[in-house]
Parts: sequence; C-alpha cells; structure tokens
Amino acid sequence: MRPLIVGNWKMNTMRSEATALVAGLMEQRAELDPGCDLLVCPPFVILRPVADIIEGSPIALGAQDCHTDNSGAHTGDVSAGMLADAGCEFVIVGHSERRADHREDDVLVVSKAGAAHASGLQAIICVGETLDQRNAEETLSVVEGHLLSSVPDGATAENTVVAYEPIWAIGTGLTPTIEQISEVHDHIRALLVARFADGNEFRLLYGGSMNPGNAREILAVKNVNGGLVGGASLNVKDFWSICASV
Ligand code: 13P
Repeated sequence: MRPLIVGNWKMNTMRSEATALVAGLMEQRAELDPGCDLLVCPPFVILRPVADIIEGSPIALGAQDCHTDNSGAHTGDVSAGMLADAGCEFVIVGHSERRADHREDDVLVVSKAGAAHASGLQAIICVGETLDQRNAEETLSVVEGHLLSSVPDGATAENTVVAYEPIWAIGTGLTPTIEQISEVHDHIRALLVARFADGNEFRLLYGGSMNPGNAREILAVKNVNGGLVGGASLNVKDFWSICASV
C-alpha cells in the first residue's frame, strides 16, 4: 500500500507562513514523487487559503478535529460537512492533545469518526499511551482499548487511518525503540484484521518526534505505513526529507 505522510500543523502558522510552507512543498512535489501520499492539516482558518494553493496538486488537505453533528447550535465548533465543503479529504480525530485539552474520550472520538465518514472524509484516529502506562506495561492494553472504542464499526481501509502516537513521544524528542513501535503496530494490525474484513489494508501511521534523522528507520518497520508529523512538518526541508525517506 502507498504510505501516507501527514503534517499536523497544530495551532501554528499565520496565513503567510502557511501559504509559504505549502508552496514550498508544492515545488518539491512537482520535481519528485516521493512514493507516498502527502497530507497537510492546517488550523481551521487556514484551510481555505491552503486549499486554493494545492487545488489540483497531489497534496491533500485535512483538518485537525470536527464536531459530531453536521450543523446546529454549537458555538465555536466546525462540522465534518463544513470541512468537506472547504476542500478537506481527511480529518484527525482523537488526538491526545484534544483528549487532554478538551477532555475528549473514546465515546466522543468514535462519534466524531462516524461524522467524518458520513461526510465522506477519511478519519485519522489517534491512539496511544502515557509514559506511566508504558512504564506499567499497559501499552498494548491501552492501545487496544482506544482502538476498540474509538474506531467505529463502519470503518474501512478506504475511510479510516489509524495513528499510533505515544503521548510521551509527542514534542519531546523521545521515541520508542524500533522494537516497541513494531510491537504496537503489529498488535494494532492484528486487532484490525480480527475485526474488519479489510483490516490488512488500513494504513497505520506512527507519530511522535518523527524527524529527518529517525524517519527512515521508523518508516521501514513492517506495519508502519506512514507518519503523523508535528513539529518537523512546519519546515519544508524537514518535512520533505521525511517524505523522501519513504
Ligand atoms: P511531534 O512530531 O511534534 O512530536 O508531534 C507529533 C504529533 O502529535 C502529530 O500529531
């Protein structure tokens, strides 16, 4: 399957920075197909300016969150339908920063993923353990719990991507060992295969301090089908270097 490299810009980039960043990626992509699909996930208010630039290019657009409902009295929220209307093909749901900052739980996340599917978006569903859970050897059970409860029954390889992001690896410069990444990704694959007819086809991303120095090794792991990149996605050179590592 073709790997997917995702830039999660989080709450970063003013419009001018965002447009320069994506224009730089367009230039690189015009010269070379790195052998993977490329997706950028800017903040909501930057989606349209970025959509205008990447229109017709092989770079796809995604958002970082959506509401469970398609419209209504939800001040400050944005629906999956609106994201599709703004040019998005993907939406990240259940990121650990949303789970922590906004007290999102699996019940909410599974509903957001369902809303994404109903609007024709691919949901990138995030799972992952805290450092305490890792130290208590609970990683596989935590990830299993997230996976069973956050991935809706209607998920298919066409509408769902699963991202494993150990919370302690996000923005810290720390990463699990290759063996640890491999163990979790194999476990996720086995759970998907047990539950879904096309479980073998789902793309599984690794996220957490991925950078040009470690990407090649991580992306070579069996059952790692791409990356969800935070900090390093804000720099054209670094992000492109990760893409080229595929
Ligand atoms: P960093 O790459 O900055 O560690 O962030 C990872 C992440 O949370 C992507 O969603």
